[in-house]
Amino acid sequence: MSQPVSNKTVQDPYGIPIDELDVSDPCLYEADSHWPYFERLRKEAPVHYCKGSVFGPFWSVSNYEFIAEVDRNHQIFSSEPAIVIGDQPEDFTLKQFIAMDPPKHDAQRKAVTGVVAPTNLVLLEPLIRERVVEIMDSLPLGETFNWVDRVSIELTTRMLATLFDFPFERRSKLTYWSDMATSSPEIAGDDSVSQEDRIAALMECLEEFTVIWNERINQDPTGQLDFITLLAHSPATRDMEPMEYLGNLILLIVGGNDTTRNSISGGVLELNNNPAEYDKLRANPALIPSMVSEIIRYQTPLMHMRRLATEDTMLGGQQIKKGDKVVMWYVSGNRDEKRIERPNEFLIDRANPRNHLSFGFGIHRCMGNRLAEMQLRIVWEEIMNRFSKVEVVGEPARLKSNFVRGITDLPVRLHPL
Ligand code: HEM
Repeated sequence: MSQPVSNKTVQDPYGIPIDELDVSDPCLYEADSHWPYFERLRKEAPVHYCKGSVFGPFWSVSNYEFIAEVDRNHQIFSSEPAIVIGDQPEDFTLKQFIAMDPPKHDAQRKAVTGVVAPTNLVLLEPLIRERVVEIMDSLPLGETFNWVDRVSIELTTRMLATLFDFPFERRSKLTYWSDMATSSPEIAGDDSVSQEDRIAALMECLEEFTVIWNERINQDPTGQLDFITLLAHSPATRDMEPMEYLGNLILLIVGGNDTTRNSISGGVLELNNNPAEYDKLRANPALIPSMVSEIIRYQTPLMHMRRLATEDTMLGGQQIKKGDKVVMWYVSGNRDEKRIERPNEFLIDRANPRNHLSFGFGIHRCMGNRLAEMQLRIVWEEIMNRFSKVEVVGEPARLKSNFVRGITDLPVRLHPL
């Protein structure tokens, strides 16, 4: 259940001098109290400088227009060396293509993109559905349980095991490594997991995947579309050093894990918060694809991406200096009243539901976006085939992170058709 949060987080943002607003505080998101902060930033300072955060000074870009401008301009706004507000520790630096610029980024992305290409998704769909059905059929009726553990985590872990062709019985390791990777102080803002334990977990991940790499490098890759086979056999990635292999593993694990997990939980929560929308869905399940996009907009599973200015530049009338950190707050742009009609409402039948920022723009636009949509579509098709309602019966608990917008507990009860 919800953790107590510091007074700082429930302060009225309009009572704080604008120069002192700091939206990097992970407690804000644990309390879900960031909305008025961004409402004020969008109105008064859509490109805003924060001098005094624990992560160092950074610019916040909070409206749709300027976020898209930054995300599309990778020459001036570099993704190196990291894509979260906080910096990585110097003695443990992961390299991954989401945090690289062209040409290396492009070559590495191209190496693995076949796994999530539309042609392969068609082939994967039956297996993903089979794994969803197994879970749905095992859920208890009329009993309270945590949807996050039993459904959201388990489903995404199964999907990931499929993409990596990872031993299915050991799949919970993928969730563990993903959670350890995102518990870093750069993201959670505290040391609740020690750096030592984190490094040990990530090194274990590297070790296990090195065994898999060594097997697959000696196998004929023809017709084998999994991330490790592609990494091991592609000229752009086959000579990666260990920290680069580990970095890309973590990217592919976290990329597919937290995001989809929290969209699955967020959808259940928002349908309960908006019963008229749940009624619309029951009356017309053909709305599932547009609802999926609305869930992804409304949840915004990754709240920000960070860039570094490669030269002095102007943005929204502000002078950005070479070397400054520039943070694009997708979580705010997705509620920009200038670009999205009734942005604070969850509406499953929007005219243009894919008009959101949750997958980013430009060369780093989410590689797995079609897979994520497919997984969520299958989940909702199978829910609607079985249950008249997934009822939320208690308060959700949220993750303390300024990066992943996460739901850690969601007590529910299922009602059959
Ligand atoms: C609802 C689910 C998802 C959301 C909201 C999401 C969001 C994002 C965002 C915001 C970015 C960065 C975009 C930018 O910088 O412009 C990204 C990149 C990426 N995502 Fe996703 N993602 C999701 C699902 C997935 C899945 C299922 C995978 C599959 C493994 C995946 C793999 C990746 C990868 C590899 C990148 C790096 C792309 C690059 O740097 O070129 N994502 N994602």
